[in-house]
Amino acid sequence: MKTIAVAAALLVWCVTPASANEVVAGLLKHYEKQGASRFAAASAESMWTRPFTDAKSGDKRRCSQCHHEDLRRSGKHAVTGKVIEPLAPSANPKRLTDPEHIEKWFLRNCKWTIGRECTAQEKGDFLVMLRAK
Ligand code: HEC
Repeated sequence: MKTIAVAAALLVWCVTPASANEVVAGLLKHYEKQGASRFAAASAESMWTRPFTDAKSGDKRRCSQCHHEDLRRSGKHAVTGKVIEPLAPSANPKRLTDPEHIEKWFLRNCKWTIGRECTAQEKGDFLVMLRAK
């Protein structure tokens, strides 16, 4: 039975797409090449709820505005009202498994929320924080 269990586990492991851990590790390496280092979840935690003032409208914008403060819960898009699945991999196994999706949304979300692209350091901090949720 034990052998069967191990074989089954191996099979699942082999056919499972890249895990969040692998994908995040790859992206962190990439950000390090761009000069980032010592990624800190604490920096990302405080940035998650910090309000940034939109230059055009004067509105306050936050990451948690669309994604919720509790990352294990679904969020709601601040503009369209659409439900956004939880960002925490523990609540949503599809999270952080596609580097292109991550980069695409970092670009859009950072521009919309903060008014500029996030730095490699900030993106790494966010991923380290999200990965642990
Ligand atoms: C205006 C709404 C909105 C705001 C504000 C917002 N996001 Fe998002 N975010 C989205 C949408 C929509 C998606 C794509 C849909 C999805 O992945 O469920 C997304 C996806 C993501 C993803 C991709 C996750 C994955 O598993 O691929 C990350 C990472 C992310 N957002 C981080 C952030 C960060 C960091 C901030 C703040 C700088 C932020 N978001 C602010 C709407 C928002």
